[in-house]
Amino acid sequence: MRSTVEALLAPGKGLLAADESLKTIGKRFEALGIACTEESRRNYRAMLITTPTLPEHISGVILYDETLRQKVGDALIPDVLSRSGVIPGIKVDKGTVALPSLPGEKVTEGLDGLRERLAEYWRLGARFTKWRAVIAVSAQLPSRACIDANTQALARFAALCQEASLVPIIEPEVLMDGNHTLQRCEEVTTRVLSNLFDHLSEYQVSLEKMILKTGMVLPGRDSPDTAPDWEVAEGTLRCLRRSVPSAVPGIVFLSGGQSSVAATARLNAICAMGRAPWTLSFSFGRALQNDAMAAWRGLAANVPAAQDALRHRTECNGLAVQGKYSSQIERASPLD
Ligand code: G3H
Repeated sequence: MRSTVEALLAPGKGLLAADESLKTIGKRFEALGIACTEESRRNYRAMLITTPTLPEHISGVILYDETLRQKVGDALIPDVLSRSGVIPGIKVDKGTVALPSLPGEKVTEGLDGLRERLAEYWRLGARFTKWRAVIAVSAQLPSRACIDANTQALARFAALCQEASLVPIIEPEVLMDGNHTLQRCEEVTTRVLSNLFDHLSEYQVSLEKMILKTGMVLPGRDSPDTAPDWEVAEGTLRCLRRSVPSAVPGIVFLSGGQSSVAATARLNAICAMGRAPWTLSFSFGRALQNDAMAAWRGLAANVPAAQDALRHRTECNGLAVQGKYSSQIERASPLD
């Protein structure tokens, strides 16, 4: 697990999250007029993982259960990744359900039978896993019960993964939805992470053999506030320093619905600020894939353009983790 962690956190590299559930990928395909079938999902994920330059800036790819069993030619997708030096990972949670009596709050399910599923995922080639919890923010939310339910599930997931020699990527996502301020996001994220590490300690999760995946500290999507990149970086690093033990080897950021360019610019500001005891990197889904999916649109003829769009975003984020990104290298997006 230590060598997997080290490889995932290799300098200048990050993770590609390509683990959208059937429902989520269906919505994203529908928005672009792409039919959502097992074959189209396979073709799309195959396009992503066979991008020739992928291993230059991507150390691991988080896959969905269906993808882990699909093939490119005769080879299973996890084997295609491993052969190119990219570590295959797997999302193991089963999505969220509403918490009873707590309007607007959710808990992530998937612990039942997880031990057996993990053994199978290892046999299929996965070497790391991901579990995502979501925390909604408002003046009243989150409740203590919601935080506890989610962080306890994250701790049990992580302990089960380490038992199976799989590195857990532990993701408590504080949602951007709402009109809250950056300060409120920081307060909630600090509370959630502090609570998470209490539970990880109770479940004796080895901090050296995990990676934390979290959001940046940002104002809510509907907030009138706009925060400059340096303010996001300061708030994010202050929050992490107050709540994440330095024994954790790495923290990777999700993009959470930010535009691709904003996510890269903020990642760059965070990494450039430095003075962090952990390796900082990215584990973006939409901020890596949006342009590539829009360029692809379900057509084999568009694969080179789509792979070029992914190459560009991985390169930008590879520079950002070194604090060397400049918006001057940006170019028109297929979504513009
Ligand atoms: O769990 C969330 C994904 O792994 C990251 O997706 O970057 O689109 O928020 P995102």
